[in-house]
Amino acid sequence: MTASPLSAHLKALIETDGPLTVARYMREALLHPEHGYYTTREPFGVAGDFITAPEISQTFGELIGLWCAAVWQQTGSPTKIALVECGPGRGTLMADALRAARIVPGFRDAIEVHLVEASPRLRALQRETLSGTDVTWHDTVETLPNAPSLILGNEFFDALPIRQLIHRDGMWRERCIVQDAGNDALGWSEMPAPADLVRLAPSALIPAEGDIFEICEDGRTVAEQIARHIAHCGGAGLFLDYGHGKSAFGDTFQALRGHQYVDVLEKPGTADLTAHVDFDALLESAASGGCTCFGTVTQGQFLTALGIEPRVQALVGKASPAQAATIRSGARRLIEPTEMGTLFKAVAIAAPGVDALPGFGPPRNRSMRETGAFSG
Ligand SMILES: C[S@@+](CC[C@H](N)C(=O)[O-])C[C@H]1O[C@@H](n2cnc3c(N)ncnc32)[C@H](O)[C@@H]1O
Repeated sequence: MTASPLSAHLKALIETDGPLTVARYMREALLHPEHGYYTTREPFGVAGDFITAPEISQTFGELIGLWCAAVWQQTGSPTKIALVECGPGRGTLMADALRAARIVPGFRDAIEVHLVEASPRLRALQRETLSGTDVTWHDTVETLPNAPSLILGNEFFDALPIRQLIHRDGMWRERCIVQDAGNDALGWSEMPAPADLVRLAPSALIPAEGDIFEICEDGRTVAEQIARHIAHCGGAGLFLDYGHGKSAFGDTFQALRGHQYVDVLEKPGTADLTAHVDFDALLESAASGGCTCFGTVTQGQFLTALGIEPRVQALVGKASPAQAATIRSGARRLIEPTEMGTLFKAVAIAAPGVDALPGFGPPRNRSMRETGAFSG
């Protein structure tokens, strides 16, 4: 049974417009104003569909808050800085980061909080979590203020819609979603792929029959917009997500409901839909926007370099035995290679002239602007 309140709407869309790209399907399923997943559900935590790093351990947001403080100092401690989070979910990461920010003199007072969030329902939750904090919400990064900015995103890019190319008989076609003949279910079809999409497939990789390549056009656009903002206003960006460090073939489009993987076409609007982030592509877009790029490093390496272990010891020292066990297991879950430590990765971007960022090795590019290749 694949029906959901969104199914009739998708069926009507297919009847009028023809097969849906995966991106259009994902956008409708996640953000349809009445029946979309993020507009109708409380997805986080044990009772929800998935759990994210800030919801697992307060150390995650705290260490990111300290990362921001270090970068703020590194960039000359400006008296005003926008602390921005894209896709903040419940607002937990921001709350933990702001608490940690207080320990660095002057930093908390310099911060103006900005959240980029598409879901009105989640905005209301964020307002509750961050009550007492002045927050400005944005639909997109394009309306951020003209000020030095630290821009964060945890599991933001994986929620942005992807398109899928599939290699058939020596050429790329596009995977699309259709109404199955004879029943009410949604199914798959392959359509001629537009040339501007095929152009984005990496020429260095040789596809075999049936290989799939995923392209997140929205992710590339947002990464470039963020980079242009940072290159122009100063600051840095930090993004953690699951995905591959090098562009690769594979079908990573997935649906989670109640912490179980389900068919991506089953009951649209009732499961979280994501795809692995192609960090190569994301950083390429950020470099085109004029930023210097860092990473990937694994989440385990990143949090360890920032001091998750001493932070856990400090928390455990003030905790009951039961709380101490929860604190330790939460932190382990974030950094263990068999848990979130390796699949999840961190990348960062910075305004031209920043040659080092906490938790990262040397930059993978100098900014295009510095090398003279950037003309925007
Ligand atoms: C997987 S959740 C991650 C939540 C949070 N960062 C965390 O780690 O718990 C994805 C978040 O991105 C938001 N989101 C999805 N698509 C978006 C878009 N196009 N623009 C802004 N926010 C979006 C969702 O509403 C949600 O807040």
